[in-house]
Formats: sequence, C-alpha cells, structure tokens
Amino acid sequence: SLGLAEHTVLKHTDLAAGIVEMTIRAPVIAQSARAGQFVRVLATDDGELIPLTLADWNKENGTIDLVIQGMGTSTKMMNKMSEGDFFAGIAGPLGEPSDVNKFDPEKETVVFTAGGVGLPAIYPIAKAHLETGNHVTMIIGFRSADHLFWTGDDERMGLLKAKYGDMLDVIYCSNDGTFGIKGFVTNPLEDMLKDDKTSKGRKIAEVVSVGPPMMMRAVSDLTKPYEVPTVVSLNSIMVDATGMCGACMVPVLKDGKTMRQHACIDGPEFDAHTVEWDKFLPRFGQFKVQEVRSMEKHKL
Ligand code: FES
Repeated sequence: SLGLAEHTVLKHTDLAAGIVEMTIRAPVIAQSARAGQFVRVLATDDGELIPLTLADWNKENGTIDLVIQGMGTSTKMMNKMSEGDFFAGIAGPLGEPSDVNKFDPEKETVVFTAGGVGLPAIYPIAKAHLETGNHVTMIIGFRSADHLFWTGDDERMGLLKAKYGDMLDVIYCSNDGTFGIKGFVTNPLEDMLKDDKTSKGRKIAEVVSVGPPMMMRAVSDLTKPYEVPTVVSLNSIMVDATGMCGACMVPVLKDGKTMRQHACIDGPEFDAHTVEWDKFLPRFGQFKVQEVRSMEKHKL
C-alpha cells in the first residue's frame, strides 16, 4: 500500500542554492523503477501535484532519490522538508522507460547533454547505458562554479567516473567559464558533430538531451543535418502529470501529420527530430527572447 510512512524523508542534502536532494522511503516504486521514469509527488494533502524525474533508486533499501529545485510554492515547501517528515503521496513510477540500445563501445558513444537540474534527469539513463556496456559521453552545463553539484570525487559523478573509467567521458561547461569549458553544452556537441567523431575516434550513436526547451531545440537543430538520432526528455514541461491539464502537449510530426501528444503519458521521451519546435516553443515565450539572444550571441 502507499501508506504515509512509506514516503518518509530519510535524508535531506542541500546540493546548491535552491536545489535539494532527498532520499525517500518508497519500496514499491524502487522495486519497479526504470531509467527515464518519473514520479508524481504531493507534499501535503492540499498541495499541488509535482512531477519529478527519479534521480536514482535502491531496490534493497527500498528508497528513491529526488532532486528538487525550488521554483514555485510547492517545490520551495518540499525543499524545507527534513529527515523524518513525510510526503502526503508519491505515485509511480510513471512514463515510458528509456530505450537503452546496445552499441559498439569501441566505435560508438552515446552522448548526453544536460543543464543544471537536467543532470539528475540524465544520470539514471546514462548509468543504464554504462551498465549495458555502452560508451557514454556526458556534457553537463552549470551556470557557474557556484551552482555545481554531484561533481566531487565522492559524489555521484565522481563515483560514476571512478567505476566506469575510460567507458565514460565527462565534459563540464559553465556560462561564465568558472567551471570547465566556457559556453553552452551545444558547443562541445557541435565540435564532435563537425569532426564526425569524438576525441577518442568514436562516432555519436545517439544524443539524449534534457534541459530547458530552448536548449533541447538547439541540440535537435544541431544533430538533425547529421542525422544523429536524438532523444529529448520533456519532463520539464509537465505540470500535474495526470493527462488532464494539457500543459504538456507536444506537437509531433508523424507521416506528414501533426499529432498532439502528452509528455506525461506518451513521453517523457520523444524523437527530437519529429517534434514541431516552431509550434511547441511559443508556449515558453517568457524564456524565449532572453534565450534566443543568448543563443545568437553564441552563434547557435
Ligand atoms: Fe498535465 Fe500532462 S502534465 S496533462
């Protein structure tokens, strides 16, 4: 059953300003969770439903890990929850799991691009590819060195690198150059595409991207002429994840016709090259001008 005690916060970690990681007791979800899936979280009985990607889970301990960025009232409230507090409800796992295809690790690499809290969304998918035996390249962007998380040697990315060694390449970038390469995640990706191979001579088998809609579009536009299969996870656009609010509508081109799909039911992953970005992006108008300017500045 989904009794209250099942959703107790076991650990609260402040990752960066406004970003919190929580380990929560949820044995039923942990048992069947797969990479790419999410949960629907209710902090209090009168709160809002918030969809959150599963950052990690542990079947043996019966726990799930969520990374929450305090953006609105509900997420800010969640970020104040500490050890011993419990969520009113957590439902899941929801959404279609990621397709994890097997590639030749000598000749091909699976490239992930993520910005900020996109990292916890790609982490389990990248891990699933590594467990399958694929070579993985992760391009991770942060705003600046002040916004880092998971990058230390004893933290998630450090531990993943230690475990997989040469099977995992990690490229960090930041907008202001205070951590890793200065620039956007699209810059190293573009270099790889132009070379038609990565620095280690591997071809890009596919690209998986999670981040703000404009970033995912920029990635999609970059890879399309090269015909590199590209997956975007549109979890960031979901509101209640019930299939009812319609906020997550994605126009997808299938057989020359526009199909309206729901990210929360049909996704969260979509073939980026079938998403009709021109129809889809105006809904994110409040970010657009700013992001387009910044893209123009960086010649995207
Ligand atoms: Fe509301 Fe999908 S998020 S319908």
